[in-house]
Amino acid sequence: MSESPEGERDETTPGQTGHGPSRPPPSAGLDDTSASAAQPPARRVVGQPAYSEDARSYDWMTGAYEGFRRAIVDALPVRPGQVVLDVGSGTGLCFGLLLEKVGPEGGVVGIEESPEMVAMALERIEQEGWRNTTVLQSRAEDAEIALTADAALFCAVHDILQSRVALRNVMNHLRSGAWVAAGGGKWAASWMLAVNLHRMILHAPYVRSFEGFQRPWSHLEQLLEDVHVRELGFGSGYIMTGHALPPARASGGARSCGPAP
Ligand SMILES: C[S@@+](CC[C@H](N)C(=O)[O-])C[C@H]1O[C@@H](n2cnc3c(N)ncnc32)[C@H](O)[C@@H]1O
Repeated sequence: MSESPEGERDETTPGQTGHGPSRPPPSAGLDDTSASAAQPPARRVVGQPAYSEDARSYDWMTGAYEGFRRAIVDALPVRPGQVVLDVGSGTGLCFGLLLEKVGPEGGVVGIEESPEMVAMALERIEQEGWRNTTVLQSRAEDAEIALTADAALFCAVHDILQSRVALRNVMNHLRSGAWVAAGGGKWAASWMLAVNLHRMILHAPYVRSFEGFQRPWSHLEQLLEDVHVRELGFGSGYIMTGHALPPARASGGARSCGPAP
């Protein structure tokens, strides 16, 4: 995937709309200008029916991975009252797990480009009555995040992790030292052919490219310190955590330590 993914993914002008029946506390600083009906037409997710016409079956299709999703969220040590960015939030399957941690005083802000996935997330928010959860319909690359968050979650979002532009934009809206957790699939050792074949079939509908699938966190780790990586499922999955670098060091791409497999 290109570092400037704008050209290769878009068919139409990117849309960006803030959504949600409720939003994080005012201290979270979510700007009202992000919510507007007068936005450009929503961009469709090119070539990924899983996030457009098949979005309604996403929860069912990925339901078996609920335990893994919880493990990734559990790796993110956020406290009650904090605000978390859920980057590539999809239908909002991580919202409830995150809300268990941040509580009613905290907040969750989803960032999701697919209008169909956002629609499902909004239904979930409405049904659950979550008053401190909102969704920003936008690409992570150019999302106008009008707050400084305490943590960010990247759950099963391989494509976003391959976009340095998206990662930089998200990190620019995290406070120094904020916790970051990422997790998803990856290639196991090359001799584990059956495991990798299974991974490929499983993930194909959900990734634009398998580029970087050997070490999906390789761009993100350059923006973090105290990076730890845990591999799961015979090396076919991972959970990575780290702290956001202070801005001066992040701009230089510094990194304090490498992954611990
Ligand atoms: C596999 S789903 C994961 C959804 C959710 N995190 C979960 O755990 O179920 C990946 C999501 O990332 C979204 N996505 C992919 N690239 C994106 C980008 N550049 N900006 C925002 N969202 C993106 C897709 O539309 C999709 O909803």
